[in-house]
Amino acid sequence: PEPTIITIDGPAGAGKSTLAKEIAKKFGYLHLDSGALYRTIGYACVQRGVDLSDEKKVLNVARSISVELQNGKVLLNGEDVTRQIRTPEAGKWASQVAQYPEVREVVVQILRKLARGKKVVVDGRDAGSYIFPEAQLKIYLTASSQERAKRRLEELKRKGFNLSYEEVLKEIVERDRKDENRPFAPLKVPEGAVIIDSTGKTLEEVLQEVEKLIKNDP
Ligand code: C5P
Repeated sequence: PEPTIITIDGPAGAGKSTLAKEIAKKFGYLHLDSGALYRTIGYACVQRGVDLSDEKKVLNVARSISVELQNGKVLLNGEDVTRQIRTPEAGKWASQVAQYPEVREVVVQILRKLARGKKVVVDGRDAGSYIFPEAQLKIYLTASSQERAKRRLEELKRKGFNLSYEEVLKEIVERDRKDENRPFAPLKVPEGAVIIDSTGKTLEEVLQEVEKLIKNDP
């Protein structure tokens, strides 16, 4: 049978959300972007003037806001923040608030609730290792840091942000280091995950590999 839960984990800029969106569209899954939740919490804190190193205050914000994921849009207390949370800065804020175990617990509860009774594809850092250990298909998507920086740069340019390759590469390497080294639910290859290295591969090629995995047809 087709998996009811598919998880896609991996480092920043590996193409997890793009792949997840394609899987959702092609195979009828609901896409849950867990990074978007951390980004929104970080953004909400900064908007409220909350110091991101103040764990208690950050947790209060996480518990008091409403975040909705609606067909690719992200709503914070009903307001569309889809674009605001995609800046490189918001990525940094996200990985800061993502260090706090209780903030992670808030996000995990939201995701588990959204997934109930549905076919979902979830992308993140700990989707297969921590949020949905029961997922029937776990993918670990990676690529060289140079390739990931190049792709991220193109994506940011398309969205109208103006950054240099060096800045993006530095941001990606720094964020990976933080995500891999945090004590609670760090980025790692989940047990039973299939590792896909997308360096030099097109989205179409990766999607074909994943399709075989979904159809369980080696
Ligand atoms: O995937 P995205 O770049 O949107 O994630 C932003 C940050 O949120 C990551 O660098 C990571 O620190 C955090 N995150 C996480 N666990 C997840 C998803 C994202 O810690 N499942």
